[in-house]
Amino acid sequence: MAVQRSTRADVALRQTQTPRDSEAFEQTLRPRKLAEYIGQGEIKGHVLVHVHAARSRNEPLGHTLLHGPPGLGKTTLACILAQEMGTQLRTASGPSIEKPGDLASLLTNLNQGDILFIDEIHRMRPAIEEVLYSAMEDFALDLVIGKGPSARSMRLDLKPFTLVGATTKIGSMSAPLRDRFVHQFKLAFYSNEEIRQIVERAAGILGVRFDDGAAQRIASCARATPRIANRLVRSIRDFAQVEGEQSITPHRVQSTLDALGIDARGLDRVDRAILSAIIEKFAGGPVGLSTLAAVTAEEEETLEDVYEPYLLQQGFLQRTPKGRIVTKHAYGVLGMECPQGVQAAML
Ligand code: ADE
Repeated sequence: MAVQRSTRADVALRQTQTPRDSEAFEQTLRPRKLAEYIGQGEIKGHVLVHVHAARSRNEPLGHTLLHGPPGLGKTTLACILAQEMGTQLRTASGPSIEKPGDLASLLTNLNQGDILFIDEIHRMRPAIEEVLYSAMEDFALDLVIGKGPSARSMRLDLKPFTLVGATTKIGSMSAPLRDRFVHQFKLAFYSNEEIRQIVERAAGILGVRFDDGAAQRIASCARATPRIANRLVRSIRDFAQVEGEQSITPHRVQSTLDALGIDARGLDRVDRAILSAIIEKFAGGPVGLSTLAAVTAEEEETLEDVYEPYLLQQGFLQRTPKGRIVTKHAYGVLGMECPQGVQAAML
């Protein structure tokens, strides 16, 4: 499967899981069919129509772009698309395709109707992107062989295929690439009830029993993100097992969340460090991304892709043309008084 960067859940739960370990674990819990996939109702409805139509025309599915914050199920949906279309899924990631030849090799090995999934497609190099245009549009590869005056171009026909791209940063994609995707779906954060169902489903697969209220407690701290919900179930299960408990009590959930530094709103130490840095060092903001990255010792990309989406969605943070500012809710969540002057400026 595609190379994964460190995500929020990796960060929060790194004490208990190695990346390879967690990838295999994610696979175990991944729904295989659309009917098993919880949430994203509107997207599922559209996908059903397009899959049905493509299958009845005996054509590949149109190229599909999935975008949204990490952990919401883009890779899972790509796997489901292949399953529902009855085709093979081949995977790659934008940065792993280094030369046009790498892409050519991926594309020429596809069978009719196969799905090529490119994760982090916004990180693909421009020279590679250009090779992809004719592949997507005409199912042909235009390659230049050799260099200088003896260089010649060559066109290779490909079997009709579907490209499924995934990105956390649709704004970083070039317009020509983005516009070649027929279907574009933005995955949204999940509702509390959907996450609770995902938690119950994971528990069922892992053979974990919850006492009343335990699943709900996990759901409310999972940042509206299935990947985090599933990983929390796994960590809590380990803590309960080590203590010799037969079922998961709300108390066990709470003690594990405390151990992981996750608060009642699902915020972890880094989230709180981001908010308190803006408050304490920049009087609530605005502060630019690069400065914020420097004072929190996080990469800009990690702040933007992993931490900010949930802080923005929950209304703790705002992006303004001058930089990031916290809202009065951020003061509340950190147990701080919002100064009168700051409150007035926010009105
Ligand atoms: N596991 C991860 N994402 C899921 C989803 N959307 N539905 C069911 N199980 C999941």
